[in-house]
Amino acid sequence: MIKEADVVIVGSGAAGLYCALNIPDHYKIIVITKKQPEDSDSFLAQGGISVLRDNDDYDAYFEDTLKAGRYKNNKDSVEILIRSSRSVIEDLVRLGVNFDQDGSDFSYTREGAHSVNRILHHKDVTGKEITEKLLEQVRHKSNITIVPFVTMIDILEKNHTCTGVVLKDQANTISTISARAVVWATGGIGGLFEHSTNMNHITGDAIAIAVKHNVKLIDMNYVQIHPTTLFSKGEGRSFLISEAVRGEGAILLNKDGQRFVDELLPRDVVSAAIYEQMKKDGTDYVYLSMQHMTGEKIRERFPNIYEKCLEEGYHLETDLLPVTPAQHYFMGGVQINEDGKTSMKNLFAVGETSCNGVHGANRLASNSLLEALVFSKRAAFMIGEGLKSGALENGAEIIDYTQYKNTEALEKEYHLLVWNEISKGSVEYAGLCKHEG
Ligand code: SIN
Repeated sequence: MIKEADVVIVGSGAAGLYCALNIPDHYKIIVITKKQPEDSDSFLAQGGISVLRDNDDYDAYFEDTLKAGRYKNNKDSVEILIRSSRSVIEDLVRLGVNFDQDGSDFSYTREGAHSVNRILHHKDVTGKEITEKLLEQVRHKSNITIVPFVTMIDILEKNHTCTGVVLKDQANTISTISARAVVWATGGIGGLFEHSTNMNHITGDAIAIAVKHNVKLIDMNYVQIHPTTLFSKGEGRSFLISEAVRGEGAILLNKDGQRFVDELLPRDVVSAAIYEQMKKDGTDYVYLSMQHMTGEKIRERFPNIYEKCLEEGYHLETDLLPVTPAQHYFMGGVQINEDGKTSMKNLFAVGETSCNGVHGANRLASNSLLEALVFSKRAAFMIGEGLKSGALENGAEIIDYTQYKNTEALEKEYHLLVWNEISKGSVEYAGLCKHEG
């Protein structure tokens, strides 16, 4: 294992990769990831990425983001998000990302709580398209090394300055990398929930380590439930049925085939209405109908969803699809400023694991990939400046490895730490959580 780097980035989702790409090329960067580099929630994102279509849409986009966020958002962060959106999209296109076109213009779709169509997409696999293109770029950079199948189990700290990370590999061998800056891009907390659209290994590791080292957290009770995931009796990750499906006209029906909610309300409102309906009907799901769309249109616009549903025995053009809510996103997390700085020196956080208040209490659909990119680029700039000025200096540290030897107990302890933080406020739908204590 490499022992030293200028920057260690923990996580290989869109935020981690884009951060790596935006740090000047002459710095040595190591990206570590728990599984394969493709195993991130960014990769799974279906719906799309929101963008300011033209300046006339600014006020409406701002208001939609705040209204969905129950007006708990940090307005400065929202302004940065929206004002930076077009340059980030231009950058992605330059890096080879393809968005669906409508003639010579982009094709814009809509999702819940957006007042207009402003979401760019690549069929129903937008996250895969973006993440694959970012990964391709990262793999071409000689200054960036991706190390798969290692887990961050701690950070190195000296006088409340982060000086590196402690890692565990698949053989449970412990090692360290010392670094002048560490970036947490570890994603959300869905792996702690019984029903989540997130990958199982995304368990909020950075949050637990933050608690241990007194790194400030914020808005820890803001957990988002997505209204529509494919109902299944089996175990494992809940398969998302993108809100873009409802954006394209699909409707929700109760057991008697009647509509019971406006499908394009904010997702927390739609989730609550579904729970209410399931309770009334005594069912574990409601139905989603795409019967207004032709099979050809569904296959062309939502090939991934179509295939998965077919595997499960549902023909979307004719069958009603049983759907149920599941944990999807975490709005709270490691407190950062608008440049990704945490409360600990030389420690940065980006993407879902971080929180600068941009999403408020409930994220607007398709603002997550955008947020990951906009704010990781700003963090990268800050890190580059710090490295250049010599402000991000560190010192190697000797630690006692024996404290990490019982990896199973450590994992349990970390899950508990995260869950304790989440449960400090009142969490909606906490009954979905695996942890019973
Ligand atoms: C979806 O496609 O419904 C999810 C998009 C998002 O989480 O913003």
